[in-house]
Amino acid sequence: MQYLIYRSTPLGFDRAMLAGILLGARRNNARDAITGALLCRHDLYLQLIEGPAPAIDALYARIAVDDRHSDVRLLLSDTADRRMFPDWTMLDDQNPSLAWSPAQVADGAIEAAGAAELLGVFARLSASAACR
Ligand SMILES: Cc1cc2nc3c(=O)[nH]c(=O)nc-3n(C[C@H](O)[C@H](O)[C@H](O)COP(=O)(O)O)c2cc1C
Repeated sequence: MQYLIYRSTPLGFDRAMLAGILLGARRNNARDAITGALLCRHDLYLQLIEGPAPAIDALYARIAVDDRHSDVRLLLSDTADRRMFPDWTMLDDQNPSLAWSPAQVADGAIEAAGAAELLGVFARLSASAACR
C-alpha cells in the first residue's frame, strides 16, 4: 500500500468549494480504493492519501493540476502495511489543531517538518476519528 502527504495553498477558500472537493473526492476514492484525510485551514491544505500505488500516482497527478489550490508540494511518499484511515474515503478536519501558525506556514514550516512530525499530525487525527 502506497501513501503520500502533500501541502498546498487554497485558492478562493470557502465552505461551498470545500464541500464540492469532498463530494467528488469521496466518490472517486471509493471507486479507486483510496482512503485518507484532508486538513483544511484558510492558508493551508494538508492531505494524506493512501491506497494502491497506481491509483495514488494517478490521483496526485490530478491534484497537482487542480486550479482550486496552488503551491502543491509533495512532502512524504512511502509504503505501509496498514492504512491510517481505513474507514474514511476522505476524512475532513476543518478545525485542525496544528503546531504551525499561518506566519510559520508562510515561512516554510510545513516543508521543514520531518516525516515523524507530519505522520504524528495524521496519527493524532486518526486516533480522534475513531471516536467520531
Ligand atoms: C485539496 C484538494 C484535495 C483533493 N482530494 C481529492 C481526492 O482525495 N480524491 C479525488 O478523486 N480528487 C481529489 N481532489 C480533486 C482532484 O484534484 C480532481 O479535480 C478530481 O479528482 C477529478 O475528478 P473527476 O474526474 O471526477 O472530475 C482534490 C482537490 C483538491 C483541491
